[in-house]
Amino acid sequence: MVFIIITVLAVTGLVFRFTYVRFLSGIPSDRRTGLTFVGREYAGWFGDGLRGLFDGDFPGRAWTFTKSWLAVNYPGWRQGIFWALAASFGFCAATGFAFAVFTKRGMYGLPLLAHVMAGALFALSLTAALLLRARAFRPDADPGLETCDFCPLMKTLPKKIVLTILFWIFAAAGLALIVTALASMLPYFYFRAQFPLLEFHRYGALAAVLAAAALFDFGILPRRT
Ligand code: HEM
Repeated sequence: MVFIIITVLAVTGLVFRFTYVRFLSGIPSDRRTGLTFVGREYAGWFGDGLRGLFDGDFPGRAWTFTKSWLAVNYPGWRQGIFWALAASFGFCAATGFAFAVFTKRGMYGLPLLAHVMAGALFALSLTAALLLRARAFRPDADPGLETCDFCPLMKTLPKKIVLTILFWIFAAAGLALIVTALASMLPYFYFRAQFPLLEFHRYGALAAVLAAAALFDFGILPRRT
């Protein structure tokens, strides 16, 4: 039950924070006073944003943007690594969280088999993506001047450093997912030992999803200038 509460609070909190920062970035600072005004305006803006996702030309614009982003970050055949990682991670997260949040008995049957198979693709594509992208996220790389706005605690930190932290959190969470899943298959861990392994797997999944969402919002999605 605790995992469900933490997951719902963390995901809604993150979505609120990201969208609220984007909403505020479109309002001149002298107009940002008065919670009722901001609340009403934010709700309107959020509704428009949701409706915009079903706009006729949104898929086209999103695909054009994705292609241009991939051409820079995963050029040529390397796009396959990105799509394998995105698809396997998305499927594992969807099946894992659907069972963790909406069922009491946990994952079983065909969904579990499909989850483990997608998990294998996740392990392979994560390794390939790390080999390909680790250099771009070296901790000693030049941080640049641009700072970050999505976390008040990191306001002074250069954007590059925040992206590097998020990248390695995702990598570490991915590794934790792989190790806990493989460990649970070893004969050394008897029934009682499976529970802490599953808990660790679940929280690793939550950390990976939150880090991926932050990387997407902060490192990929265009921002209003
Ligand atoms: C190497 C990759 C992976 C393998 C082999 C794997 C395997 C498994 C297995 C066997 C379970 C069921 C455990 C049980 O009920 O005893 C499980 C549960 C779970 N997995 Fe994965 N997994 C992998 C990757 C992922 C990823 C990438 C995510 C999400 C981002 C994820 C999220 C979850 C969640 C949330 C559960 C808990 C489901 C529940 O409470 O019923 N897994 N995984």
